[in-house]
Amino acid sequence: MKFLAIGALLLSTVGAIATEHIIHGAQIIPATDKAGLKKIGAHGHHKHPDRRTVTIRSSTSDTDDISDDFLWGIKAANHGGRLLLKKGKKYVIGKKLDLSFLDNIEVQLEGELMFTDDIDYWQANHFYYPFQKSITFWVWGGQDIKIFGKGTLNGNGQEWYNAFAGREILDDENTFYRPILFLTDNATRVSVEGITQLNSPCWTNFFVRTNDISFDDVYINAFSTNASALPKNTDGFDSLNVDGLSVTNTRIDIGDDCFSPKPNTTNIFVQNLWCNNTHGVSMGSIGQYPGVEDFIEHAWIENVTLLNGQNGARLKAWAGPNVGFGRINNITYKDIRIGNTDAPIVLDQCYFDINSTTCAEYPSSVNFTNITFENIYGTSSGKNGKVIADLTCSPNAVCSGIQLSDIDISSPAGSPSTVICDGIHGDVGVECQPSSS
Ligand SMILES: *[C@@H]1O[C@H](CO)[C@@H](O)[C@H](O)[C@H]1NC(C)=O
Ligand SMILES: *[C@@H]1O[C@H](CO)[C@@H](O)[C@H](O)[C@H]1NC(C)=O
Ligand SMILES: *[C@@H]1O[C@H](CO)[C@@H](O)[C@H](O)[C@H]1NC(C)=O
Ligand SMILES: *[C@@H]1O[C@H](CO)[C@@H](O)[C@H](O)[C@H]1NC(C)=O
Ligand SMILES: *[C@@H]1O[C@H](CO)[C@@H](O)[C@H](O)[C@H]1NC(C)=O
Ligand SMILES: *[C@@H]1O[C@H](CO)[C@@H](O)[C@H](O)[C@H]1NC(C)=O
Ligand SMILES: *[C@@H]1O[C@H](CO)[C@@H](O)[C@H](O)[C@H]1NC(C)=O
Ligand SMILES: *[C@@H]1O[C@H](CO)[C@@H](O)[C@H](O)[C@H]1NC(C)=O
Ligand SMILES: *[C@@H]1O[C@H](CO)[C@@H](O)[C@H](O)[C@H]1NC(C)=O
Repeated sequence: MKFLAIGALLLSTVGAIATEHIIHGAQIIPATDKAGLKKIGAHGHHKHPDRRTVTIRSSTSDTDDISDDFLWGIKAANHGGRLLLKKGKKYVIGKKLDLSFLDNIEVQLEGELMFTDDIDYWQANHFYYPFQKSITFWVWGGQDIKIFGKGTLNGNGQEWYNAFAGREILDDENTFYRPILFLTDNATRVSVEGITQLNSPCWTNFFVRTNDISFDDVYINAFSTNASALPKNTDGFDSLNVDGLSVTNTRIDIGDDCFSPKPNTTNIFVQNLWCNNTHGVSMGSIGQYPGVEDFIEHAWIENVTLLNGQNGARLKAWAGPNVGFGRINNITYKDIRIGNTDAPIVLDQCYFDINSTTCAEYPSSVNFTNITFENIYGTSSGKNGKVIADLTCSPNAVCSGIQLSDIDISSPAGSPSTVICDGIHGDVGVECQPSSS
């Protein structure tokens, strides 16, 4: 009751939220009440100094939807406060949430924030993005948003994996859309630190029209308990119209792209990333939509471990009739450790799924320039024989300033391992041969 009284007093002095009253099961503790903050697990920390801290009731079951409480808590914590989701508690979100109004807020996630797996509800209620027909449970937007803690954001994906089995996301006929676990739109200065992101139904993170977003010390995992319905398209990171994207000290174990910026992403920094069972660290795909210009520029990717996956370091752009144009420029991959990976280094200007005849007839209009691969080492899976790097640019397209150095990847299929290069202008720095040989 003491907290409630203080909270009510505080609220009555804060103009913007003066009309709000404390809802059932919630508390607001002022930044000055150190003992009160400590008691609820909102410890002072040099990186996250004490703030006005809001707590809400937790769920009593996996279907006890607290999304109204959560929205109330976010509003009460907005403008300088913090919403704490307590350790050992579960908070279930069963309704779509528009969080586009954020301004200077922290969310300390120590417990578990989980979405319901009511497929019928979410297919009728979501936010839709035309880019690759993406949908999401919620949208985070605004500025100065920090999410941190040791807790879990759980997409509760199993039912989605079961129901999606046998379908393909890039199938034009597909209308079975699955929500993205975390999405920012029109956001500036977002940081996410320490948390686990579990079992997203589709992409794990998608950033749209966002500047200065960073992830540090995050663990992303998607798994299925049903062998005939594995997680699909659960990419670690995707982006669209983003400037300033940093991912550091992060571990990802999912069955699709580990890190994959998409159209119009610039100033990318990745360091100390570990990817298991993924489709690799991919720039793109871009150039998908007719008449639309896309670009990815200025990326520094350093110290990445890529294990048990399809691809390692990859660049991909669409070719064929009715596609777009653009450029991938100034990309560095440095100190990349490869283990049991089918295609360790890939330049693909004939994406998606078109044969070489069609690719030659309709070459990619996405330029690949100033791309460096330095100190890439380890072993491939041998699935592509001795080929450890496949650099295939479409004929007549721009592919220049491609530099490989210190490439030391062996293949279990035999030695010496080989590098293929087609359609590249200039010397690539290592011995290579055309695919026809
Ligand atoms: C983006 O957010 C700002 C406030 O941060 C708002 O003024 C603007 O209208 C938003 N833009 C769009 C396109 O939603
Ligand atoms: C596993 O997924 C398959 C394919 O969707 C489905 O038919 C089956 O019912 C699922 N098994 C369980 C135990 O949910
Ligand atoms: C490289 O990243 C790994 C995590 O994947 C980390 O353990 C290691 O310390 C990093 N190496 C350097 C030199 O920072
Ligand atoms: C990486 O994935 C493999 C399955 O491909 C699994 O056996 C292994 O335990 C994973 N590694 C770690 C460290 O989780
Ligand atoms: C990328 O930026 C270009 C130029 O500003 C714009 O025309 C294009 O629509 C953007 N691409 C996407 C997919 O938003
Ligand atoms: C290339 O990208 C790096 C960041 O990775 C940036 O520091 C550098 O200025 C860029 N170079 C040019 C010529 O723009
Ligand atoms: C691709 O390169 C060509 C030749 O240098 C240039 O004319 C064109 O503007 C470039 N396209 C983009 C989108 O940068
Ligand atoms: C390549 O694909 C085109 C379009 O799907 C098809 O018409 C053609 O027969 C294919 N060519 C070869 C050699 O497979
Ligand atoms: C590639 O780098 C060179 C040297 O820094 C620069 O002159 C050129 O403009 C770059 N290409 C593009 C497309 O930016």
